[in-house]
Amino acid sequence: MTDDSYILSDPKTGTQVELPVHRGTLGAPTLDISNLYRDTGMFTYDPGFVSTASCHSSITYIDGDEGVLLYRGYPIEQLAEHCSFIEVSYLLLNGELPKPEQLTAFRSKIVHHTMVNEQMKSFFTAFRYDAHPMAIMVGAVGSLSAFYHDALDVHDPEHRELSAYRLIAKIPTIAAASYKHNIGEPFVYPRNDLGYCANLLRMMFSVPAEPYEANDVSVRALNLLFILHADHEQNASTSTVRLSASSGANPYACVAAGIASLWGPAHGGANEAVLSMLSEIGTVDNIGPFIDKAKDKDDPFRLMGFGHRVYKNYDPRAALIRTICHEVLDGLGDDADPLFELALKLEEIALQDEYFIERKLYPNVDFYSGIIYKALGIPSSMFTVMFAIARTTGWVAHWMEMMADPGQRIGRPRQLYDGSARRDFVGMDKR
Ligand code: CMC
Repeated sequence: MTDDSYILSDPKTGTQVELPVHRGTLGAPTLDISNLYRDTGMFTYDPGFVSTASCHSSITYIDGDEGVLLYRGYPIEQLAEHCSFIEVSYLLLNGELPKPEQLTAFRSKIVHHTMVNEQMKSFFTAFRYDAHPMAIMVGAVGSLSAFYHDALDVHDPEHRELSAYRLIAKIPTIAAASYKHNIGEPFVYPRNDLGYCANLLRMMFSVPAEPYEANDVSVRALNLLFILHADHEQNASTSTVRLSASSGANPYACVAAGIASLWGPAHGGANEAVLSMLSEIGTVDNIGPFIDKAKDKDDPFRLMGFGHRVYKNYDPRAALIRTICHEVLDGLGDDADPLFELALKLEEIALQDEYFIERKLYPNVDFYSGIIYKALGIPSSMFTVMFAIARTTGWVAHWMEMMADPGQRIGRPRQLYDGSARRDFVGMDKR
């Protein structure tokens, strides 16, 4: 992997250190500083990991300047057009698109793990009726490790594979149960003859008193949103999963940590925040004052669903979602959602504003996804849960990749200490 090297020199002492430069298949060359402390006694400082590659990975590639997203080399647009979410999950986990028999076998492994232990019911009911479903998700997914002692050896590849199937299979069941708990309806068991998305919609929206069949438009829309959310290289939640797992912690605990990180409004919580923001803006006339508020450095408000650490161009996922918004709203007979019209206008105004142009702030994946979820009848408190279901595949793929790497070590960042120097204890009477 090392092609060349880079010389760092200290002008004061004249000391030089030669650092290897790694070049991956695509993307920026990467300076290997792993021996820098040993060789120079210095750390590197990069809050927010703006210039730091925390690992090597062959799962997902993003070109933020060009607005490109590839899963295992395949452009997201092509996968979105041709694949099911389960097919994309296979690709993310295994590195190649499945042959028909491989897909059948994979699907069968997933559907045989969709149920959760019956004792988990009391876990859900222990939450207050109005608990945020993401709070339930963090707890319920973490609790899975208490049920599956048979496969918790993270150094055993077969145990890892079984845990991967369990996580991908059970997350929709847990998500639907979190929702049912919120609205006071009975939990609905999974049906293994249904596809991944149709089954989730049924677990969320059916009631024992009536027959239910998920609408095809909703199933297709959910399938597309799940593909677009399935992975996004070393984002905050994936890095959280990796860091948690680096200590050898079990995958359920690590994915629960990932869900907690995803919940934040700067990350997956943005889809819920976008809808509240649009509702608050209310009408096109109010867009101006909200844009001014977002630009005001003394105001913490940000235009939710705008901006991205990596994309300095239109987020390709947002472009796809915006395109299908019309189709989904038409298909569901809801073509005049005023929030969609408002979102389109807000985007148009922001993209002509010097502040957003200069900073290369474009709509991200969360800007339009809530409009579709809303059209599917999914309440805004469940938007980030939907993101978590899809991203579980990515988290699991990264965990599998990391655990299979013989060079894997515990993640242990260092710091630039700026607290007090050593000092002696002062008794209570002298403080
Ligand atoms: N509204 C107004 N100003 C913004 C916004 C925004 N949404 N995003 C960034 N800026 C400004 C920011 O104030 C800064 O300005 P200046 O250079 O004058 O100080 C500049 O743009 C760069 O921002 P940053 O905070 O340094 O960028 P970052 O890479 O640390 O943060 C971000 C990226 C996504 C957290 C941020 O753009 C943001 O808070 N966006 C709104 C929340 C959001 O939509 N999050 C979803 C992200 S995509 C899905 C996901 O990851 O889950």
